[in-house]
Amino acid sequence: MVLFAFRSLWARKIRSALTALGVATCVLALTTVDGMLGHMHAERAQDVARFSDRVLLQPRGAGYPPFRSMLRQEWVATVLQRPDIVTDKSTPLLLLVLEPADNPMDVAGVIGLGLWPGREQAWIGDVQAISGRATLAEAGANAVILGAQAAHFYGVSAAGETVTLAGREWHVAGILRKAGPAKLDTVDNLVIMPLAEAQAIPGVEGWVSAVLLTAERGQAPTLARSLREAYSTLEVYTQDDVRRVLTGELDLPGRFLGMLSWATFIIAVLLVTNVMSIAVRERAQEVAPIRPIGERRWAILGYTLTESLMLSLSGGILGMLAAVPTAYLLGWTWILAWGEGLRLTGLVLASGLLAGVYPAYHAVRLYPEVLRYDELRRQMEEIAAEKRAMDQAYRHLVRGREEERERLARELHDQAIQSLVGLKFHLAEQAPGAQTGLQAEIDAVIQTLRSLCADLRPPALDRLGLVAALRSYLDDFSIRTGIRVELRVEGDEQRLAPEVELTLFRVAQEALTNVWKHAQAPKVEVGLRFGEEGVELIVRDRGRGFVVPERWGTLAGAGHFGLVGMYERMALVGGTLRLASAPGQGTAVTAWVR
Ligand SMILES: Nc1ncnc2c1ncn2[C@@H]1O[C@H](COP(=O)(O)OP(=O)(O)OP(=O)(O)O)[C@@H](O)[C@H]1O
Ligand SMILES: [Mg+2]
Repeated sequence: MVLFAFRSLWARKIRSALTALGVATCVLALTTVDGMLGHMHAERAQDVARFSDRVLLQPRGAGYPPFRSMLRQEWVATVLQRPDIVTDKSTPLLLLVLEPADNPMDVAGVIGLGLWPGREQAWIGDVQAISGRATLAEAGANAVILGAQAAHFYGVSAAGETVTLAGREWHVAGILRKAGPAKLDTVDNLVIMPLAEAQAIPGVEGWVSAVLLTAERGQAPTLARSLREAYSTLEVYTQDDVRRVLTGELDLPGRFLGMLSWATFIIAVLLVTNVMSIAVRERAQEVAPIRPIGERRWAILGYTLTESLMLSLSGGILGMLAAVPTAYLLGWTWILAWGEGLRLTGLVLASGLLAGVYPAYHAVRLYPEVLRYDELRRQMEEIAAEKRAMDQAYRHLVRGREEERERLARELHDQAIQSLVGLKFHLAEQAPGAQTGLQAEIDAVIQTLRSLCADLRPPALDRLGLVAALRSYLDDFSIRTGIRVELRVEGDEQRLAPEVELTLFRVAQEALTNVWKHAQAPKVEVGLRFGEEGVELIVRDRGRGFVVPERWGTLAGAGHFGLVGMYERMALVGGTLRLASAPGQGTAVTAWVR
């Protein structure tokens, strides 16, 4: 099945390749779009994960992340004394945009995060450093910790180096490594600095953005509730709130990108459907490729679907392969996930199946008909060949019979008649005047033999042509039967091929015999017309007439061979025979030959 599908696709190489390329483009687009969406979701999921067991207490309407600094640090310090929090994982914090995002895919640019040294875990969790340390405790006032992306941005490669930001020199205490299963983390773009130094940058000493509180495991909802009761003028952000805000932001782009991926999926399906429909239709024109499939519905369905699947799959594989360099080129290597690959394979298979449904339905209806038609044509060809062979045999038979008749006529003429003539003279010599009775009898026999000869093979036909032979035969017929004969010749008489002349003569002979045997007519008209487009012979009587059977075969079946013979002999010389008759209306036999 796969081999057949492959052969069929190979037979239409260029079209298949173009379709596969089209599908590949769709798959590439799908990969990129889905990758983008997946990346955005993953990034936000990490932010959400950060807030398990944590809450943010911040000014109303500050949103997430809270970039406004509207809380007094002094007051915030009192909150940090609450007994229901994990103190060393809770801190006041200040968020600053150090460098704005330089492209829409880059979520936030470089963010400055000011917090109490030693309390970094409150925000970054258990992230470790690839260089230096992951805490600012005892690192001095001028120290910063950089996320990997931020380090890259400022050209810092190891802890211990210095970095200039916000117009000041800083000592790099550590660089954080990428963390998390997806190898991306929102700590990547952070510059963590002591709170007091961070406040000095925009000049908001004594003010913070929010206070991050860590609860005991599973106690965050309880903490949030009691915070809301205690500080009704502030806003409490729990993990659920963060999730709502962050995923809400992806609603519109997510819907748009989702629509885009549906569109590419549908385009891929339509592309394959179209090409498969053309292939199915084309194959129906030439039977050879569908003969091996046969008429069974399931087989046709299977073959067509396999072909469609292979087309879609080849495009899919091409597209997925193309996604690798594209991802590296764009720097979006995060779109290359195994899960995404699996999902795409599924999509490509689904598109192949979907695309194959209509062409398969079409093929199931079309192919059995084509095959049956093919079988019929083959049978007809066989019958035609048999007919040709039979015509050949018939021609051979007719020719043999004519030769036999000719030989018989010659023998009769040269032997029997000559002997009788000799005998007659012999008698006259031996007894002149006597035996006249015997002589008359011999004459009668000679006459009978002569007319037999003429009937067997008209001697005038070869020498004098059709008209003379017919005239002589008609005279004889009239005398023999007492039926009046009227011969009319039109056009310029000309000699025809010997076979044609003999055939027309035999047709006339048989038609006249029929008039004599069946018509009961006193008179018969014979017409011979030589025209531009051929010769026409008509034998017409005004006798009894008869019901002409629809098929010649019925006559032969009933033991009547005269008319069938005429018809066959005319066909052998490429002519036609028409018969017009009706009871009481007489009969007309018309033979025509070019
Ligand atoms: N001119 C005619 N007038 C009336 N009936 C005719 C005429 N020619 C043919 N028929 C009818 O058509 C039938 C078929 O003619 P056909 O010449 O094929 O066979 P046949 O004359 O009966 O036998 P044969 O095989 O010896 O010719 C005849 O039996 C006769 O009934
Ligand atoms: Mg007859």
